[in-house]
Amino acid sequence: MSETKENYIPKHIAFIMDGNGRWAKKHLMPREYGHSVGAKKFREIAQYCADKGVENVTVYAFSTENWKRPQKEVDAIMRLFREYISEAERDFGKSDVRILFIGNRNVFDEDLQNEMSRVEKLTSDRKKTLCIAINYGGRGEIVDAVNTLIALGKKNITEDDITRSIYSGAVPPPDMIVRTGGELRLSNFLLWQSDYAELFFTETLWPDLTTDEVDCLIETFYQRNRRYGGI
Ligand code: FPP
Repeated sequence: MSETKENYIPKHIAFIMDGNGRWAKKHLMPREYGHSVGAKKFREIAQYCADKGVENVTVYAFSTENWKRPQKEVDAIMRLFREYISEAERDFGKSDVRILFIGNRNVFDEDLQNEMSRVEKLTSDRKKTLCIAINYGGRGEIVDAVNTLIALGKKNITEDDITRSIYSGAVPPPDMIVRTGGELRLSNFLLWQSDYAELFFTETLWPDLTTDEVDCLIETFYQRNRRYGGI
């Protein structure tokens, strides 16, 4: 059955927030400025989706490959990330969204890891979820899941086992993956979860994405006929 506006709101939209650097260049500003505008846009789009009734949103904030960027840029993204965490703690009670960090967090300082866990715990009883992928790689996520299962003594690993053991656990797979910035690839994002996701690519640079364009993308999603391998 093809889903229509009347009977289905996407349960999960994932965003690859690409184009901050080019946006900054276009405005004759340093790349770090593009990320700070991108971080504001992330707040706006995540809240907009939640208000629209999308129960789960995932954003790709920093990949396991992004450490290769100049240190100044990495530091700027990490600073924005820390700012967001402090804000989430400070503004506790103002939002109905649970925050979940997906990715390998062992590389972060202990204090940051503790803050991440604190925010997750603080928001854990909320119905909607915002997954922030940080030091995230889809292949690494699958390997981590398999190693967790091996450590538990599992001998025959099933698809369900992996689905339950990936970082995002109980969060359903994305209905839509939206990549801004014009590149046509997934860049190691949600490889396990993207098996039947509908993919959307827009030339719009992340800081320029509007809520109207999000509405248009959701409209296009309604027109797609998801057959999950059937006819
Ligand atoms: C890709 O654009 C974007 C990133 C690698 C970082 C995304 C980070 C943010 C939006 C801000 C921090 C997030 C949080 C959760 C506070 P790019 O730099 O590759 O852009 P380009 O392709 O134009 O160079």
